[in-house]
Amino acid sequence: MRGIILAGGNGTRLQPVSLVGSKQLAPVYDKPMIYYPLSVLMLAGISDVLIITRPTELELFQRLFGDGGRLGMSIRYAAQDAPRGIADAFRVGADHIGGEDCALILGDNLFHGADLPPMLRSSAERLNGCVLFAHQVSDPQKFGVAEVDRAGRLVAIEEKPERPRSNLAIPGLYFFDGEVVDIAKRLTPSLRGELEITDVLRAYLKQGRADLMWMGRGVTWLDTGTHESLLEAGLFVRDVQRRQGTRIGCVEEVAMHMGFIGPDECHRLGAEMPNSPYGRYVMDCARAYERLPASARLRGGR
Ligand code: TTP
Repeated sequence: MRGIILAGGNGTRLQPVSLVGSKQLAPVYDKPMIYYPLSVLMLAGISDVLIITRPTELELFQRLFGDGGRLGMSIRYAAQDAPRGIADAFRVGADHIGGEDCALILGDNLFHGADLPPMLRSSAERLNGCVLFAHQVSDPQKFGVAEVDRAGRLVAIEEKPERPRSNLAIPGLYFFDGEVVDIAKRLTPSLRGELEITDVLRAYLKQGRADLMWMGRGVTWLDTGTHESLLEAGLFVRDVQRRQGTRIGCVEEVAMHMGFIGPDECHRLGAEMPNSPYGRYVMDCARAYERLPASARLRGGR
């Protein structure tokens, strides 16, 4: 399965933070924002990733991850010359997808929780069309909203409805089969001139091939698109990490747990940042790995 991180956009709500830099490189506590969505794709078992950015920022992402080889991955880059919408990812990324199944994640979405790795794995395994997720929120008006029947099956999707029919927001993480590229090619832009992801999901729903998975209490979803939510996400990450002594979105640790790299390689990556608590954590993870019971490894988690 191929992965795409959509990390362009204008970031107007985060200005002036996003004026001359990418918001997806802004720190969420101790690491660049993009580490969080990248680690989610990795937890789904994906090691072949395309990062889509604004043309002016492509080089910065390249400097951060290179060709991905250090993480035991393949990471490639493509520019979106204007923010033409989330579904534009399937046009920019058509060659990368190449008819395979793919997962798309937005570069400013952060997920965390014990239920996440098994949920990602089962989404990838049971994919027949598309998988989208539902996460309960208190302010559904701001999101794409899933309408479900009594059995919890998806019946409709509304984009930022004034009167939402449920409190189930659809987060920025989706799995698709290879047909998504053709579906995206047939889309017409919305009134705001964008290719809407909602229209792609509706096309699958019409075919009876849109599978809704509920993210229950075992998964936290945070968006980091505003000053307030960016700060809240940073505080959330700090508090969880401090309390549990583990790190969220640590790509070196995840790469080791997924078997993309070995403990020695992981240790070497941490040793390049010896003055930072993050670097020391990566080294500690590598040292502790062999002693961990299989159930404590991310891949072997619940
Ligand atoms: P949004 O939050 O909808 O848009 P934005 O990031 O440009 O921010 P703002 O609303 O403050 O102007 O985008 C969600 C994610 O998708 C974010 O990571 C940026 C990315 N994105 C693109 O890369 N290209 C696009 O064309 C769009 C619409 C979004």
